[in-house]
Amino acid sequence: MKILNVVGARPNFMKIAPLMAEYPRYENIQAILVHTGQHYDEIMSKLFFSELGIPEPDVNLEVGSGSHAVQTAEIMKRFEPVLINYKPDVVVVVGDVNSTIACGLVAVKLGAKLVHVEAGLRSGDRTMPEEINRLLTDSISDLLFCTEQSGVDNLLKEGISPQKVHLVGHVMIDNLLRNKEKAKNSNILNLLNLNGDDYAVLTLHRPSNVDDPVIFGRILDALTIIQNDMPVIFPVHPRTRKNLVSCSLAKRLEEMPGFRLTDPLGYLDFLKLMSNAKVVLTDSGGIQEETTILQVPCLTLRENTERPITTELGTNQIVGTDPQKILAAYRNATSGNWREPQIPPLWDGKAAKRIVDIIVKSI
Ligand code: UD1
Repeated sequence: MKILNVVGARPNFMKIAPLMAEYPRYENIQAILVHTGQHYDEIMSKLFFSELGIPEPDVNLEVGSGSHAVQTAEIMKRFEPVLINYKPDVVVVVGDVNSTIACGLVAVKLGAKLVHVEAGLRSGDRTMPEEINRLLTDSISDLLFCTEQSGVDNLLKEGISPQKVHLVGHVMIDNLLRNKEKAKNSNILNLLNLNGDDYAVLTLHRPSNVDDPVIFGRILDALTIIQNDMPVIFPVHPRTRKNLVSCSLAKRLEEMPGFRLTDPLGYLDFLKLMSNAKVVLTDSGGIQEETTILQVPCLTLRENTERPITTELGTNQIVGTDPQKILAAYRNATSGNWREPQIPPLWDGKAAKRIVDIIVKSI
């Protein structure tokens, strides 16, 4: 069986790594890896391949950045001949980025079976580009693998046949559990002079937060107070850095000595940084889940989440972008007034094995 796997953007790499490690256990599987090149900087892409032991991609489409239409269309144009050349039986796409829907659409039109890993998540917010990517990818997939029960429920509500839907746990958590020990050797706390300190970690890159100077400014209002209390470490996504400069908010940062910007970090450094943090503030999807496993309080700077299990069982709280709400939650989190987390069902490091077993049996 020829299985062609697609990655494109940073959050895809940790999801594909456990699958690529699993395939060699099956003699009759030939695994092919295609990188669309949606993310292309060394620190947004290449570093993750070496740290996570992902094989070199067989093909890199090198699409780079662009508007949604341009990026999606360019991926489709460049992916089609690759698919015609390799003629895979199965195409596996992960997550919810533009590469996911672009390659999924090409695959089904050429008659390959489409497998979506991390299916069924719904924020209910159709202004999020990822929500559109999720809805469309799920509606054309032949096998849909869910990380949590809400994903299964959403898919059945949308009329997807139950035979196609499987609750298997989370490949991104497989990857975290595999790398947790290795991350302990990271030197990042020394490099950032954080030994023994309480500190907060911040990540922000959603267009709804960083493309709007008013909202970005409100988040900074809360952070101005937090950074007086403890250092706030902020690995800055390229999109966010561009916006900080263009909307002149960068000036405010000069008056915030505890607010410490770094380049985006590699996987192992970021895992170590998160594991030892007092609190994490984020608008990322994956970080809401990783903090649940690491038992670190997470404040999600959005009005919704497509990963509700992290608020029901985990350490996550949705706080939005109102500075008062962010500060109230921050005080609870740092004073220990936070829920004891439980590990979500099947987040046990074996999701990739379940997925490959089901692919082999069903296709
Ligand atoms: C993409 C995903 C988002 C994911 C995020 C993680 C979509 C719709 N969005 O958003 O779901 O959470 O990745 O990072 O697919 N840039 C660089 N170097 C890079 C990549 C990007 O400088 O290696 C800059 C470019 O200027 C680009 C901007 O970042 O215009 C945004 O990149 P893009 O891939 O369009 O979306 P992300 O915001 O990264």
